[in-house]
Amino acid sequence: MCDGSRLRGLSALARIEPFYRFGVDTTHMTTTRGLREADEPITMLTAYDALTARIIDDCEIDIVLVGDSMGTTVLGYDDTLPVTLAEVKSRTAAVARGTDDALVVADMPFLSVGVDESETVRNAGEMLKEAGADAVKLESGPHTVEITERLSQLGIPVMAHLGLTPQHVNQLGGYTRQGTTTEAAEEIIALAREHQAAGAFALVLEHVPANVASRVTDALDIPTIGIGAGPDCDGQVLVGTDIMGLSEDVPPFAEQFGDVKGEMTEAVESYREAVESGQFPADEHSHTEPDLDLD
Ligand code: KIV
Repeated sequence: MCDGSRLRGLSALARIEPFYRFGVDTTHMTTTRGLREADEPITMLTAYDALTARIIDDCEIDIVLVGDSMGTTVLGYDDTLPVTLAEVKSRTAAVARGTDDALVVADMPFLSVGVDESETVRNAGEMLKEAGADAVKLESGPHTVEITERLSQLGIPVMAHLGLTPQHVNQLGGYTRQGTTTEAAEEIIALAREHQAAGAFALVLEHVPANVASRVTDALDIPTIGIGAGPDCDGQVLVGTDIMGLSEDVPPFAEQFGDVKGEMTEAVESYREAVESGQFPADEHSHTEPDLDLD
């Protein structure tokens, strides 16, 4: 139940320590959890606007991810590839304005990372400097090890992301399970280690077998956050619109925990019916000026 309470006590403060250790500015996120040894898994959800971020933050979710999933969930694109840096920046700024306690992580969109090192640094830096993010997430692979190190050295905390990386959809041929052969699983484990060594403070594992995610989690000191990666990660992330029942297409590993689309549809239909039938506006929604001298 979300009561908006901020009384977390000492254990909550203790849980920030790993984020601090890996370079995340924790000064305004006094309730963010994250200690791998803590008894409760880390919780992370996506949000793309201040209103939703406020609700998520009040529900004491640890991390709000401004995912490039905004492309398909709220911006009307067919995939995440058209999402621009400006779109993520503007949405990240809105989410940061709506969030007091959760860690705000901005997802770096397609081709904003990796084309050129100085451009990558500038792009990621703007998420912290201008949009108010605490950290950035990079869809990762062999090509992001060096840039993860550079960004971390410069004070830009990096959340890595391995397994299914949707920005590679055209090479993967769809949003398919990853790490399903021994070779592919070993590559994920090796890359996870390399990103940790490069300075990543956390790792998202998407759509990989639970036993692979479990092995990666055992192999790392930094927290793993799974999406379609089984129960053994240190935390879980899902797309906010999926859990709320607002998405058109929901991946097989997501769970719908509410029916916001149903509630919105009911409200809009009720409004239309009230206007069309003349029930709205009623007397209490209008006022009349008796002293006006109108022809
Ligand atoms: O863009 C996104 O929302 C993501 C999560 C699904 C991890 O990358």
